[in-house]
Amino acid sequence: MSDPLLISLEERLEEQTARGIANAVTRAMRDGVLEPGTRLPPIRTVAAQLQLSPTTVSAGWALLARSGAIHTDGRRGTTIADIRATGPERYRRALQRQMVFDLDLSTGVPDPELLPDLGPALRQLRTAPVLQSYLDDPVLPELVELLHADWPYRAEEMTLVDGAMDALDLAARSLLRFGDRVVVEHPCFPPLLDLLEAIGVEIVGVPVDDEGMSATGLAQAVTAPVVAVFLQPRAQNPTGASLSQARADEVAAVLRRAGTCVIEDDSAGAVSATIDVSLGRWIPQQTLHVRSFSKSHGPDLRLAAMSGPANLMAKLVGRRQLGQGWSSRLLQRVLVNLLTDEQAVRQVAYAREEYASRRAALVDALAGHDVNVGGNDGINVWVPVLDESAALLRLASQGIGVAPGSPFAVLPGPMNHIRVTAGLLADGHAEVAADIAAATRAGAWTGPR
Ligand SMILES: Cc1ncc(COP(=O)(O)O)c(C=O)c1O
Repeated sequence: MSDPLLISLEERLEEQTARGIANAVTRAMRDGVLEPGTRLPPIRTVAAQLQLSPTTVSAGWALLARSGAIHTDGRRGTTIADIRATGPERYRRALQRQMVFDLDLSTGVPDPELLPDLGPALRQLRTAPVLQSYLDDPVLPELVELLHADWPYRAEEMTLVDGAMDALDLAARSLLRFGDRVVVEHPCFPPLLDLLEAIGVEIVGVPVDDEGMSATGLAQAVTAPVVAVFLQPRAQNPTGASLSQARADEVAAVLRRAGTCVIEDDSAGAVSATIDVSLGRWIPQQTLHVRSFSKSHGPDLRLAAMSGPANLMAKLVGRRQLGQGWSSRLLQRVLVNLLTDEQAVRQVAYAREEYASRRAALVDALAGHDVNVGGNDGINVWVPVLDESAALLRLASQGIGVAPGSPFAVLPGPMNHIRVTAGLLADGHAEVAADIAAATRAGAWTGPR
């Protein structure tokens, strides 16, 4: 092989997969070997020289195109781009809707019937103090106090942001650079993958089992430098898994040794039924912990709390001052009211129990059909299927919408799962489970009869 460009890719190719070739290009860009405007050789040439299949190279190019790292233009071929953000491709795929369903269990949103009544809290706003200056404290002191009193570890700093996605975006923008290695869960929440791909980081997937992220997988991943780990400590979307104490202990030990920071996304927050766990109990100086109020108190409140050590939080809050600055104190006041009002507290407690029982009802009914699913918390159930597309089509033909599993995939290989938002299913569990069970077997080719 004489083409220096191909040699530079070969030197950086760690695995013969689409992500492997995409990572090799990313590293060559970071190292300054591939400059913006450089033209990449045709897919077939790259494939032949690096002993990959053209499909693998093409899939690698697709990943790069999504992160904005390369640009394809018919006449000029494929060139290295100036890095720029792209749209939320996986998010769109996960929630793609071609039809209206009688029963839509694809969305992953909370049941509006189970959200607390905002009326009384909004009425109290009439007496809310008005902002004095753009330099006022960005978080209401009484809210910070309430949060510290109900937080899974003793956190140094606390702030409020516009939902968990805002927290993830802020952390990613403030802490990560193009080409950094970042660990995520496999399977993973699709918008986080879109966000990381838009920044152009190298994404490393570590499997999740019923006790949370695999500590062995993580130990393997951090043998090369990793800048950050993103994980969901409980009610993982899509699997419903929660970190056990034993696993949290192991994961924290790996991260302590590696000195890697972790960003925890507790998106189910107060409607989680499992205990509030954070690696902050073990490694507070390396932990950013996020709790969303979307599922518990309402997605349109757009609020999440985020804690961390003073040095990291100063970076994040400083970065945020260049953008939206703070989350509306009017909304913060609504949240204070909801967190202290007896009726709202009762409504959230009821929602927590109701979600747990809806999930359990679907899981038990599926088990009755020999369909076994994992996880123990949250509003979603992650169902293994023989053929993802066939399962989606079959359920759609029965008027039931579910989310495809593939947008959640990080590691190569077929995902073959569907995500069912059990939290939206108030009744009819036996019938829906029977339909889902039949769909899990759809696509099986039994041969000519
Ligand atoms: C894992 C996960 N993270 C983040 C979010 C978004 O949360 P928020 O509405 O607080 O931005 C969701 C919403 O479903 C989620 O499931």
